[in-house]
Amino acid sequence: MATRNVSPPSGRAEHRWRAVAFPGTLTKPMSIDAIESALKPYLKMKQDLLERSWNDKIVDTLAIRLRYRLGSQATRACTARGGDIHIHISCVDYGANCYQQQESHIKSHTSAAKVSSMQKIISQFRYVFLMSALLMAVTLSGSTRVYAQKVVVAHRGASGYLPEHTLEAKAMAYAMGADYLEQDVVMTKDDQLLVLHDITLERTTDVASRFANRARSDGHYYAIDFTLAELRQLRVNEGVREAVNTRSAVYPERFPVDASSFQLNTLEEEIEFIQGMNKSTGRDVGIYPEIKSPEFHRAEGKDLSTAVISVLKRYGYMTKQHKVFVQTFSYEELKILHEEVLPAAGVSLNLVQLIAGEATYDWMLDAQGMKELARYADGLGPEKAMIIDRDSTPDDIIISDLVELAHANGMQVHPYTFRADEGQVPHFAENFEELLDLYYFDANVDGVFTDFPDKAVNFLRSKARTTR
Ligand code: G3P
Ligand code: CA
Repeated sequence: MATRNVSPPSGRAEHRWRAVAFPGTLTKPMSIDAIESALKPYLKMKQDLLERSWNDKIVDTLAIRLRYRLGSQATRACTARGGDIHIHISCVDYGANCYQQQESHIKSHTSAAKVSSMQKIISQFRYVFLMSALLMAVTLSGSTRVYAQKVVVAHRGASGYLPEHTLEAKAMAYAMGADYLEQDVVMTKDDQLLVLHDITLERTTDVASRFANRARSDGHYYAIDFTLAELRQLRVNEGVREAVNTRSAVYPERFPVDASSFQLNTLEEEIEFIQGMNKSTGRDVGIYPEIKSPEFHRAEGKDLSTAVISVLKRYGYMTKQHKVFVQTFSYEELKILHEEVLPAAGVSLNLVQLIAGEATYDWMLDAQGMKELARYADGLGPEKAMIIDRDSTPDDIIISDLVELAHANGMQVHPYTFRADEGQVPHFAENFEELLDLYYFDANVDGVFTDFPDKAVNFLRSKARTTR
């Protein structure tokens, strides 16, 4: 067994990311026909597995990536292109014991009477069985999520097409079929809840030209320094680059900066807008509010969480069955929400801990941390590179154990942010759809935050069609 070190994702200890590659036949390309032939006598579900897991993907994309888990932390990836299959196996922490762990797992899915003959077969077609046993186990256990269960979260609306957090962007995302529409929430001077990503206004509004003398000494215009009536006077624009203090767009191919006329909205207005569309369409699209910079708000004397939960309750969001996730990057605020704010309001809502590749979140990323987090959170919203390493290549997709650990602790995983703009698709994916495929089905996330909800919705619908 050969080992090699791969770059760990930020925040991970190096030793946890030792990849193990099997020599000889395990890394030798093998034709689909040969694999089918090897599987035929032994797998009753061959047709189903091959059709559902391989053939449709070959037809559709000429590329397959299959990743699965054996044991608690071992991971494996298989890439097939043009009919050949290359298998890469990686594991975490197991080192030389990795192979034995996998072999015993196969046996656990095989009746005692068949173990002896299976052992011979395993020695002959070892890697074929490593794959097929897992596929069969996953299928039999029903742990494979049906496509309908994967969700699309419109990140600030259909923000790839219209200025973020405008009702127009939310309507477009709604019409595109998103399952959830996201609201970042901040508070105004007069305690109104404003849907705005930044705690400052200059990136997405014309505040600097309308209220030139209202910047703080740091040069920023804070929403919390303005009343709602004042904020109503602002025009919302496609996001511009803050650092260079110009009106040049962050994403030049998107909606023109300063074109047309868009307004800021309150959380209440947006909820009424979504609930109104739910009534008129008969759908049940959810909301996904984020408590933005709660510590900043507390320092300013404002309890943002309590205000948001109060509004959610007023609009009927009161149980975990209602389609709402409340998200925050602050672990302290997550605990406050869980232990104080929700009980005080008499509601129980789904909470999501957002995480980024920063040292603050390191402790959450192992089994113990996940267990602790799951006391408060129903889901995780990680930066997407924490799930598939940026250093991955098309032939070597490096998937962390984050999703597995979160699922093992009963938490859903909704990574952010998936953008189809030029230069935004990581080099390990050929295109945006392949990126979605890798995350939804190789990494097995439950949903994604995306600026392009139409693409994610269409991708999932197309997967559902091809696997019927
Ligand atoms: O909340 C999920 C995602 O939106 C996190 O990133 O910075 O866009 O709020 P951000
Ligand atoms: Ca957000």
